[in-house]
Amino acid sequence: MTTVAKQLVQAAKQVRTHAHAPYSGYRVGAALIDDKGNLHTGCNVENAAFPEGTCAEANAIGAMVAAGGRVIRAIAAVGGRDSIDYCTPCGGCRQSILEFSDSDTQIILVDEKESTQQFTIDELLPAAFRFK
Ligand code: THU
Repeated sequence: MTTVAKQLVQAAKQVRTHAHAPYSGYRVGAALIDDKGNLHTGCNVENAAFPEGTCAEANAIGAMVAAGGRVIRAIAAVGGRDSIDYCTPCGGCRQSILEFSDSDTQIILVDEKESTQQFTIDELLPAAFRFK
């Protein structure tokens, strides 16, 4: 892993400790670095009214946008119940990542042993919807 990837994974693990996931028990943390070099994090926030829950990646993206960032250079996500395993972003998060990505954006996943999987958004969301 690159230094930046390690930093993102550490930040994702840290923010995951704040996840609010009493219903699924599946806690997720996400950390991204934007085009200004700023770091933003988010965790999943579930709700008793289930559809109101939000994903870690979406919350990290919201933090980036609120801070003025517009391009995700790299994003790491970690998730699991007790231990962590590769937490590939859900379909909705893939579309959200696409909105703020370019072809170089790295999506970094790790398992408990920090074995790494890395994707581009085109790999995770081929033939994506784009507003034309
Ligand atoms: N979750 C995320 O935060 N990100 C994903 O990409 C997949 C799923 C959350 C939503 C819910 O709180 C829990 O994980 C189980 O689906």
